[in-house]
Amino acid sequence: MLFFNREKDIAQMKAILSGDPNLIYFVYGPINSGKTALLMKVFEDLPDNYCVFYINFRWRYVADIDDLLQVLFEIRQGDFKEILKDLLKESVRTFREFKGIPIPEKMFELIFGKAKVGNIFGYLEEVFEKIKEAGKVPVFVLDEMQSIKRVINASGKPVIQELFNFLVALTKEKHLCHCLCATSDCLFIESVYSNARLEGRSQYILVNDLSKNEAFEVYDGFGFNQKELVWRYIGGRVGDMVGLYERKKRGIEEKKALKEMLKNEIRRLEWIKLTKLSEKEDGEEIWEFLEKFKHNKLLSISDVKDDFERVIFWIEENVLFYNPVDGTIKPQSPLIGRAIKSLN
Ligand SMILES: Nc1ncnc2c1ncn2[C@@H]1O[C@H](COP(=O)(O)OP(=O)(O)OP(=O)(O)O)[C@@H](O)[C@H]1O
Ligand SMILES: [Mg+2]
Repeated sequence: MLFFNREKDIAQMKAILSGDPNLIYFVYGPINSGKTALLMKVFEDLPDNYCVFYINFRWRYVADIDDLLQVLFEIRQGDFKEILKDLLKESVRTFREFKGIPIPEKMFELIFGKAKVGNIFGYLEEVFEKIKEAGKVPVFVLDEMQSIKRVINASGKPVIQELFNFLVALTKEKHLCHCLCATSDCLFIESVYSNARLEGRSQYILVNDLSKNEAFEVYDGFGFNQKELVWRYIGGRVGDMVGLYERKKRGIEEKKALKEMLKNEIRRLEWIKLTKLSEKEDGEEIWEFLEKFKHNKLLSISDVKDDFERVIFWIEENVLFYNPVDGTIKPQSPLIGRAIKSLN
């Protein structure tokens, strides 16, 4: 896979992983900013004594505990000892084919007969402990973490709260395992950020668009010619660079491809207006609210405090991105910013 730039972010992640686990790290940023790719790159470069457990909740829809078990675990034949032995032999580089944390079939049936959430954490802790005892460094990664925000346990409580407590125990208390959670859902990050139990126990790493200099280097890597023009359309959003690259590969000329991408975003906004907003009493006001972003690309949450519901609407539609750490709001991407600008 092509991978460009991001030296600073990579160095930061490696520094975190080289120390003792103390905090939960939340890797967040707008959609398509390159969070997952950055994590993959960091893991690929890690020495062999790291044992990365990478779970991506996008792999399957998680509605309940049973689904959660399916994503977290891979049922294998053999007993616990054998499975651990295999696990320790597997290099960190195999994580791309990672199907979940291995568990013996019998054990799975035994401890999850009633799908108790506590059993999940008990088993995971044991695996991480054994890995540490063997002189390896366990790293537990949960990508697209917001996907499980609605999963509840048998007593009706959100599983994510239990998960957070577990991650605090693994990091701050036991220093057993590095824990990284990635998400692009900024309302989810907001709820995490304002969670009193996580205060002082977690840190937030923003994976944002590349700066102009960095972006231009990557444009070269992708073979873009009209760099200033490309910058005006997609800026430093890596995901959109891939989109442009793919279009060019299909033989579409650069400028035409950019215009096409912009048109798609404009169409998406108009579709939202036509479907969701036309049903709302205050649909027109919600639509007009976007005008605030025509000239001011970045607003502070205090600038829009009287329009709270409108902001939330556009955040939920992934048109605006809210960064709870610095309290700013901006279009989800430079391309969406341009689409907003062109609305009449
Ligand atoms: N530094 C990079 N060099 C080259 N390609 C990259 C880089 N970073 C990301 N990409 C590519 O850009 C696209 C979007 O990246 P990625 O999926 O990592 O974003 P994300 O922030 O995880 O998105 P989402 O919000 O959907 O989870 C992918 O095709 C990825 O391979
Ligand atoms: Mg991702």
